[in-house]
Amino acid sequence: MTPKSMNADTVGRSARSSVMNFLNEIAQRHPGAISFASGRPAERFFRPEAWAPAEASFYAHYAQANGMSESAARHRLAQYGATAGIIREEIATQLRIDHGVPCTAERIVVTVGCQEAMALCILALCNARDRVLLVRNPTYIGATGVADAAGIRVVPVEPTADESLDQALARSVSELAREGLSPAAFYLIPDFDNPTGEVIAREDRERLLAQCAQHRIVVLEDNPYGMFRFEGETVPSMAQLDRHGGVIHLGTFSKTLFPSVRVGSAAFPETLFGDADAAVALRENVVERKSFLTVNTSQHCQALVGALLRHYGGSLADHVRAPIGFYRRNRDVAIESLTAGFRGFEDRVSWNQPAGGFFLSVRLPFEFDDNALDTCATRHGVLVMPMRYFAIDDGWRDTVRIAFSNLEPETIREGIARFCAYAVDRMRNPST
Ligand SMILES: Cc1ncc(COP(=O)(O)O)c(C=O)c1O
Repeated sequence: MTPKSMNADTVGRSARSSVMNFLNEIAQRHPGAISFASGRPAERFFRPEAWAPAEASFYAHYAQANGMSESAARHRLAQYGATAGIIREEIATQLRIDHGVPCTAERIVVTVGCQEAMALCILALCNARDRVLLVRNPTYIGATGVADAAGIRVVPVEPTADESLDQALARSVSELAREGLSPAAFYLIPDFDNPTGEVIAREDRERLLAQCAQHRIVVLEDNPYGMFRFEGETVPSMAQLDRHGGVIHLGTFSKTLFPSVRVGSAAFPETLFGDADAAVALRENVVERKSFLTVNTSQHCQALVGALLRHYGGSLADHVRAPIGFYRRNRDVAIESLTAGFRGFEDRVSWNQPAGGFFLSVRLPFEFDDNALDTCATRHGVLVMPMRYFAIDDGWRDTVRIAFSNLEPETIREGIARFCAYAVDRMRNPST
């Protein structure tokens, strides 16, 4: 890989929004196609029958904690509520136990999914200083979309073959400095990245944190998939490793519980690079922005999440055990199917074997463009996600993302066989 030019993001910005529309259009035209395009959690683990009784238990708890009747608690929680949220204690406990985030209740802001937490933090951080957001390339389109919409420049941190991530960061920072710019935030997904499925190693996390602290760049650690580890040792979260006050941990219950609850969080450090007042000011800035955006996160939904967190004793580790088994099996079936489907083409096609999460990526010896997407859907009845949809520049044209989380194993087998049939045909007949 070559270092990408600093103004590459102008190419990516228009491409990013138009390509997503193209994918949606194709998906609508081929509703029967097997789709590996979206990383949704498996619905079989949602357990809606448990929600009503769980929620009732939260009202009882809230009534007792606030010295009121249960009926008064129900009425209170049907009202508008505190902007920063009412389940900060429960969320802080879960983040401490499940992700090692050293946070307290008052440093949590409860948000409408992680998407709102990410948007509020990007807008708060990239407003005060130069309007630049650092990201990995490729990265989650939800973050780059926020920056694009706000006119914030997105700059990739992309290591060359002989560079580490922190060296690539240093290079991006010094290239920006030559333009008189100093970025305020670096958005990343260290665990089971969306879209690549990769994990940042502990030593790389530590070096990145030191480098970010040196330049006073806040790490926005987005962590929807961290609990879905299939094998190997857990790598401590960046918030856990942080010694400088430079990480905001973004959380969500969309994958661990269910997405329609729309509850997420931002956990702020105690000090911002040693300055406690600056950390409070940043958090208050985020709360103020939220008050003008969504007013508060639905108390009804917070009651449900609060109840489930209390029900599970603070940690969701037991609750995600069955989904982890399911996702691991799906990953294994996807890998087995790729191995079978690309037998004889091992020197031309490669894929990773993620140790967790919802995604893997496949690298092809040809460009997977819009025609390829269309042919796959029309002739083979399968949809995959071109990686270039997540690219900051116009790279990553030969790679696709496969989301294996919300399909049954036999559907994965069939869908990957169809995708391989398309790719093998294309390799055998390059001119067609
Ligand atoms: C990396 C990443 N961040 C954030 C989100 C959005 O999460 P939420 O549903 O909590 O808004 C997703 C959803 O797929 C994601 O993959």
